[in-house]
Formats: sequence, C-alpha cells, structure tokens
Amino acid sequence: MRGKFITLEGMDGAGKSTHIPDIIKLLESKGVEVISTREPGGTVLGEQLRTLLLNEPMHPETETLLMFAARREHIAQIIEPALARGAWVLSDRFTDATYAYQSGGRGVLANKVIELEVWVQGNLQPDLTLLFDVPVEVSVARLANARTPDKFERESAEFFTKIRNAYLDRANKNPSRFCIINSNQALDKVKVEVKNIISTL
Ligand code: TYD
Repeated sequence: MRGKFITLEGMDGAGKSTHIPDIIKLLESKGVEVISTREPGGTVLGEQLRTLLLNEPMHPETETLLMFAARREHIAQIIEPALARGAWVLSDRFTDATYAYQSGGRGVLANKVIELEVWVQGNLQPDLTLLFDVPVEVSVARLANARTPDKFERESAEFFTKIRNAYLDRANKNPSRFCIINSNQALDKVKVEVKNIISTL
C-alpha cells in the first residue's frame, strides 16, 4: 500500500523543527517506515541548490524556479520511490512554502507557481500538512535570538506578515489537508496538539 506524505510548514521561528524528532517517533510507533527529509534539499543536488537559495541574492522568479528544480529532483529520487514502496515521507517544507515565500512574500504571480506545481508534481500532493502558526512578533523575536540568520531569516516583519497571511490563506483554501497548530503556547501543549493530530492518521 502506498505510504502517506506529510509536510511541515510555518514561518521561520514558528518552531516546527523542534517537533520533527517527536513526529518521527509517533509515526514509527505505527509500525511504518518513515523517511524524514527537507526542502529545499533532500538530495545531493537539492542540498547544493539550498546553499545557493539560502545565501545568494537572486530574482524572485529565479528563486521560484530553483525551488522547483530542487523539488523535481527530490520527488524523483526520494519522495516517489518511498511512497511507492509503502514508506511514509515527512518533509520539512514543500510547495506551500513556495506559495508563502516566493508568491506571498516576494510577489511572484500565483499563476506561475501553479503552472510549475502542475509540471513538477503532477497529481502529487501532501496527505497532511501541519502548519505551525505564531504571531509575527513572536517569530521575529525568536529569530533575533537565533544563530546566524540566513537570507530569509534576515527579512523584515513586513515580509513575515505576508508569509503568515499567505500560509493561512493556503490553509483556508485546503481545509481537508491542513491542520493549523497554535505554536504560541507552552511547548508541552503544542506537543499534545501534534500528538493528537498524528494519532488520527
Ligand atoms: P527552514 O526550513 O526554516 O530551515 P532551518 O530550520 O534550517 O532554518 O529554511 C528553509 C528556508 O527556505 C525558509 O526560510 C523558507 C525558505 N523556502 C522558500 O522560500 N520557498 C520554498 O519553497 C521552500 C521549500 C523554502
């Protein structure tokens, strides 16, 4: 039986990465093989593209095209083979991030993203997307205390407001796929929310 495809999304500083080890354990406790991966990245070529994407200034459409180039490789090498053999794939970000960052944040036309999505993904869509949501002030304050910020993490509160709104808009338009997690509460409470959602799978 084909595996399930789960993606994690949220603004920088929303705390999603903290939950990955727990989510892997929860999924493995169901007895399934779990492949944990990330975007941009997940393959040797994809990780090289990630280094460029997170460090080099570039035109917003170049950024969009490189995100999808990395994604094409990721789907072909990792995601599709895993799902086909029945493994579950947990990806730290996927195409919703392109809608949020490149379209919402940088202003790339959504129609261009839709065309690339159809081209690169065909019918592939996540079965479940966990959106870790926090107010922009919280994410910006968390990033201020973080390690050396990358190109995206150096962006303004105004940029992150656009990202958050674009993510919430994606969630509202795809309610059966998205679960919004309130990440602005005690870590233990967020963990309970995550556990409850994973237990329904
Ligand atoms: P992130 O997932 O936050 O990793 P880390 O926790 O190591 O900082 O970093 C990836 C960055 O890439 C993030 O700022 C969002 C950005 N990104 C896009 O702009 N578009 C995309 O399509 C994807 C997948 C990521």
